[in-house]
Amino acid sequence: MAEQSKLSLGGKDYDYPIIKGSVGPDVIDIRKLYGQTGAFTFDPGFTSTAACESALTYIDGDEGVLLHRGYPIGQLAEQSSFMEVSYLLLNGELPSGRELEEFSRTISRHTMLHEQLMSFYSGFRRDAHPMAIMCGVVGALSAFYHDSTDIADPKHRKISSHRLIAKMPTIAAAAYKYSVGQPFMYPDNRLSYTGNFLRMTFGVPAEDYEVIPEIERAMDRIFILHADHEQNASTSTVRLAGSSGANPFACIAAGIACLWGPAHGGANEAALNMLREIGTPDRIPHYIERAKDKNDPFRLMGFGHRVYKNYDPRATVMQKTVREVFDAMKVSDPVFETALRLEEIALHDPYFVEKKLFPNVDFYSGIILSAIGFPTTMFTVLFALARTVGWVAQWNEMISDPNQKIGRPRQLYTGPTERDYVPIGKR
Ligand code: SDX
Repeated sequence: MAEQSKLSLGGKDYDYPIIKGSVGPDVIDIRKLYGQTGAFTFDPGFTSTAACESALTYIDGDEGVLLHRGYPIGQLAEQSSFMEVSYLLLNGELPSGRELEEFSRTISRHTMLHEQLMSFYSGFRRDAHPMAIMCGVVGALSAFYHDSTDIADPKHRKISSHRLIAKMPTIAAAAYKYSVGQPFMYPDNRLSYTGNFLRMTFGVPAEDYEVIPEIERAMDRIFILHADHEQNASTSTVRLAGSSGANPFACIAAGIACLWGPAHGGANEAALNMLREIGTPDRIPHYIERAKDKNDPFRLMGFGHRVYKNYDPRATVMQKTVREVFDAMKVSDPVFETALRLEEIALHDPYFVEKKLFPNVDFYSGIILSAIGFPTTMFTVLFALARTVGWVAQWNEMISDPNQKIGRPRQLYTGPTERDYVPIGKR
């Protein structure tokens, strides 16, 4: 018999089973609570709620641990590749050499977009935010792939998963090209997944484009760091959309829309804009005070996390990658010194120490992406590109879960109780 948790409500006692995972917090199975007690739990923001069972990613926020299928993010970032991590997330095990080669080749076969999809871009203003374009174009994929939207068919789920992972770099690069008025670049499948993306983004038809290995490696590592992250807001959005049976392209478009928010994936753009606004280290104390002021909506972007109450392990790798990219590009950026100084001051300030606010994945990523040549408006697009494999893996896991049902939370109603309509002449 599973260990039980006891709840007393309305003078009656109820037992609810405790379920243990392979690691991490136990869960109290309250699926029968409403039926037995007539009461709901109340947990806005889901701070204490496990919405699903998953075997993909484990985070220990107190210890700053992030595992993908059991492998620590630091080891994957240093030793693996984004294609290999994608295979791992989708299939549960690291691939053999042959499996990785076959997977990479399969993905490369889906990098091109339907030619008619390219006409969607011209409908946008040139100054449209690229995330607006991503929401529109990825959602429009549903209109092109009727042969892979039967989510009950594992073959359909597999090909639509591969299409989404493969096409995101092409769609993202085209969004950048459209914003700068340059011609779209077609994929060149002789290149790696990440090299192909860099060439589609920064290459032009007029010249050969040479992928710089150090930049390709740094970009690939950034994709690894953003691949998946348990049940974050955008992943939960994808799961909720998928729970209704919506097609995978529509679900990923919903995830992109959610990721855009500055409290989530939009923080990398907001963090670099903040660091540029701060400018020099002498202005840091003023911004630290603003971040602590309850009456000021300003927050230190790139700091804090719902789960990490320790240093985000991804931020550690990001900080190291800044130096590698600066060396490879033979550039420097005073903003990096400001970021290092800001981190040092914040981590010794009682407010940030008490609230356990540490740099997160978004604090340093913008500095690297800016050094590589991306405008800030592309930062969240890159986050969405990389997170697509996580969203797709979580979506597949949800569809295959025998316990999955349509997600339909309830509420604490505090509006007016029933009252009769008053004709306008009597108001
Ligand atoms: C991502 O969930 C994921 O896994 C997300 C992500 C992923 O990979 O998918 O990791 C990616 O979204 C990273 C987070 C990027 N966002 C930012 O950097 C934006 C700045 N950070 C905050 O907005 C905030 O920290 C959140 C949104 C990230 C977390 O918010 P929570 O968990 O709801 O925590 P909270 O807002 O309740 O903050 C707790 C306290 C509050 O003070 P009190 O009300 O208790 O007095 O800390 C304060 C907050 O005011 N606080 C900050 C702060 N973040 C929290 N104060 C100043 N600056 C900050 N950055």
